[in-house]
Parts: sequence; structure tokens; C-alpha cells
Amino acid sequence: MARLVIVSNRLVLPGEKLARAGGLAVGLRDALARRGGLWFGWSGETTEGTAGEPKLSSVGKIAYATLDINAADYRDFYVGYANGALWPLFHHRPGLSLYRRSAFEGYLRVNTWFAQNLKPLLQPDDLIWVHDYHFIPLATELRRQGVANRIGFFLHIPFPAPELFVTLPEHKRLASDLLAYDLTGLQTAADVRRLQRYFLEEVGGRTLEGDRIEALGQKGRIAAFPIGIDTERFARTADKAMRRPETARLSDSLSSRSLVIGVDRLDYSKGLANRLEAFQELLARWPEHKSRVTLLQIAPVSRGEVAQYRALRREIEGLAGRVNGKFAEADWTPVRYLNRSFPRNVLAGYLRLARVGFVTPIRDGMNLVAKEYVAAQDPADPGVLVLSRFAGAAGELTDALIVNPYDIDELAAALHRALAMPLDQRIARWRSLMDVVSRNTIKTWRESFLQALESSPPLALEGAMVEAGNGRRKLASADASAK
Ligand code: ADP
Ligand code: F6P
Repeated sequence: MARLVIVSNRLVLPGEKLARAGGLAVGLRDALARRGGLWFGWSGETTEGTAGEPKLSSVGKIAYATLDINAADYRDFYVGYANGALWPLFHHRPGLSLYRRSAFEGYLRVNTWFAQNLKPLLQPDDLIWVHDYHFIPLATELRRQGVANRIGFFLHIPFPAPELFVTLPEHKRLASDLLAYDLTGLQTAADVRRLQRYFLEEVGGRTLEGDRIEALGQKGRIAAFPIGIDTERFARTADKAMRRPETARLSDSLSSRSLVIGVDRLDYSKGLANRLEAFQELLARWPEHKSRVTLLQIAPVSRGEVAQYRALRREIEGLAGRVNGKFAEADWTPVRYLNRSFPRNVLAGYLRLARVGFVTPIRDGMNLVAKEYVAAQDPADPGVLVLSRFAGAAGELTDALIVNPYDIDELAAALHRALAMPLDQRIARWRSLMDVVSRNTIKTWRESFLQALESSPPLALEGAMVEAGNGRRKLASADASAK
């Protein structure tokens, strides 16, 4: 079996307990745990001056190679372009997207830097799997440096409507970068349709047989691979968590009140303001819930260097305070708002205790929390998932209460319905959801992507003799590596 080399900006280092929450890190850690391989990414450190060589370490089946990033490059790459321009646009918030050409240049510099440092670590038959919007140009850079291995890419966030994608001055460059991969994976069929539509309508491309596409003088493959979780393990963890002191403390503190839970990075894509407004509306419209229900919103601070995230933090703090100021009693705080991370075995217990999982992003690639909520439930007394139609997970979890996160009244009504739902209906809905998350797991995601990547015809067979400027490998080197 070929060695797997995973590249991602964020990784979980040995001994680090997923302190920085995020679906990509959770998913990749679970994906690598069984198959093993090399995980190459950012160390989490920035340096003044030139950053040094990759630091190498290994634990069990996973070897790690991490790179520091020069502080100025980091500002342009991570704060400026990846999270200042791409993230808002890909989440359909063009008004929040702050575009600067210098940031794009920094983005390319860091991609080149990563490619230069990855190349010496590669073996000829390694299978390279690059992750997320930070590294769209990485295959182009690797090809330029003569790397001829198969390279796949997976985008964890949604792909935007083509009408928004073209607002990026360098949309053609990024689209061409996607075609430099042997396979591009997206979360859902809807994401695939949006990217195909871009190629067909904006740059005169055409679809070929299967999942193949030709555009911008290149050929590539685009397909959907919805990410999952390690369902069995998370369910076991949640079951065990019922005997943990943290779970008992939360349960005791509720004094038999129903718990509604939200767990998200503090990000404007997660719809936190509408969620709090909806909870307030629930209490106002159905006063029987007063003193009977508590919202626990866990939201660790994320990307605090980015201005839009600092503004969001102030807004959500203000809103949580307002709801509590309006409705709290001496012995009841309606909203418990926590800006911190929890170990997974504690989080799993909290999710299991909750009568309602309130997962209402404005837009989300997949949303693993929705799947974790389902996996964590007690089969004999499960809670109800209220899920935004704009989360990738809504395409699979159709027996959740599916809501429009922009409609506060609808959100409040769904909460009311979930809190009142009889046991037999809760069980029937949960069984159907659990069936889905048990079939589409992190293992099936990893295996289906890697099988598809391994079965990609080597570029040599495509006659993909492309000039060096484009960054694609030449016939001869592709032949040599594609055994
Ligand atoms: P995103 O990738 O946008 O952050 P996801 O819902 O796909 O969203 O993934 C978030 C992951 O981070 C989940 O696995 C979730 O359990 C984890 N997570 C989120 N908040 C916390 C927290 N406060 N403590 C621990 N883990 C968290
Ligand atoms: O899954 C989406 C994602 O953006 C990942 O790419 C990222 O690692 C995670 O959320 C957390 O964000 P950050 O790495 O910026 O802290």
C-alpha cells in the first residue's frame, strides 16, 4: 500500500488534545489513526525572518513534519487571503470579504514554501492528499518542482456559486490550480454542481465521461465525498461520558430542565446571532419554556487575529447578555455562553445530555457537530437534531428538523416542536439519522477518496504533456512515478 502523505494547514500534534477545535483536524486525525502516514502542516508558530526546516516527529503509525511560517507571510496567507478573502466568499458573505492583491501574493508565497519543504520528504510512490482552501495552489507548485506523484485535494468548506467565485480577481488561477490535482473532492453533490457550473459557464469548459471535466486547457476530476465521523467510537465515548463527573455536574446544575446545545467555533458562518435571537423568540412566544429550558452555547474563540471575528465576538457577547438580562430568574440563567474548548469525552457527554442539538449555520461545508450529536444520543431516549438546510450535513440527515437559519420564527418554532416531541417520534427520527452516520463514516470517506485517487489514470496516460509554465508534469516523469 502506498504511503499516505496528508497536507493541511492545521494539524493535531502528538500530545495536543484537539485544543484548537475544527472539523478538519478532527477528521484527519481519525482518518490517519488507522492507516498511518505522514502529516505535513503548519507548526502553529510564526517567526521573524526566514522560517527554518520542517520539524520531524512520529507517534505510532503517524509521522509529523511541521513548518513555521514567517510572521509577515502568515498575515497575508492566513489572516489576509485564506480567512480574509476566501473564507467569507466561499461561505457566501462577499460583504465580509476583504480582498488585497498583496495578500494573494503572500498566499502563493506560503504555498511555494510548503511545496519546497515537502518535496525532499516525498518518496516516488507516495499518495499525496492536500486539504482545504489554504492550499489550493499546492499541486501546481509541487508540479513546478517536478513532483509527479498522484495528488488529491479535498475542500472542507462549501464551493460558492460561480457568480460569487468570479468576484475573486484570480478565480481563473485558482480554478486552474484545482485542475492540477488528479482528483478534487468536495463535500456535497451541490458543491460539485457549483464548481462544474463555473467551468462550463464562466470559462467555456466541458464535462467528459464520469466525473471528469476539461477546461482552461487542462483535464481534471471532481466528485463529492461527504466527510463523516468515527461514529462507533464517538457513541461509545458518549455512553462512557455518562459516568464522568463533568457530565454529572452539568446534569445536576440543570435541575431537570431541558438542555438545548450548540457547539461551534466562534465563526460568522455558524449563525450564532440568529440562534440566540431564536431562543429569545422561543421564550417570548411560548412562555411555558421559561425556567424550563437552558441553552448551552459552547463557542471557542477562533481566528481572533481576523477583524471580522473580533466584531462577531462582541456582537454575540452582547446578545447573550441581552437575552439573560431580559429573561433570567434568580435561579435560572437561560443562556450559558462559554468561549472554551472541551476534551472530546466531556463534549460527548454534554451532547448526550441535550434534548435538542441546535445546529444552524448560515452556510457550512459539512458540520461534523451535527453528526456527533446524533452519534452521542441514548438510543432509548434520544434528543432531536434541529439542522440548517445550509449545512452540508442536511443533504444526508434528512430526518432532522430542517430549518432555514435566516428565519428566526421558523427556528423558534422548530425548537418548540423539538422540546415537545414525544419519545416514539424522537426514536424513529434518531434511528434513521443514526443509520446514515453509521454508514457514512470517516473510514468510508477516507477509503472512497483514496480509492478514487488511486484509480485516477496517471497523467501520462492522458497524454498530458503540458508546458512547464502550467506546472503539470511531463510524460516521462509521470511514467516514472505512476507505477
Ligand atoms: P468547523 O470545521 O467549521 O469548525 P465542524 O462542525 O465540521 O465545524 O467541526 C468542528 C469540530 O470541532 C467538531 O469535531 C467539534 O466537536 C469540535 N469542536 C467544536 N467546538 C469545540 C469545543 N468547544 N471543544 C472541543 N471540540 C470542539
Ligand atoms: O473545517 C474548516 C476549518 O476551516 C479548517 O480548515 C480549519 O482547520 C478549522 O476549520 C479551524 O480553523 P483554523 O484552522 O483557522 O483555526
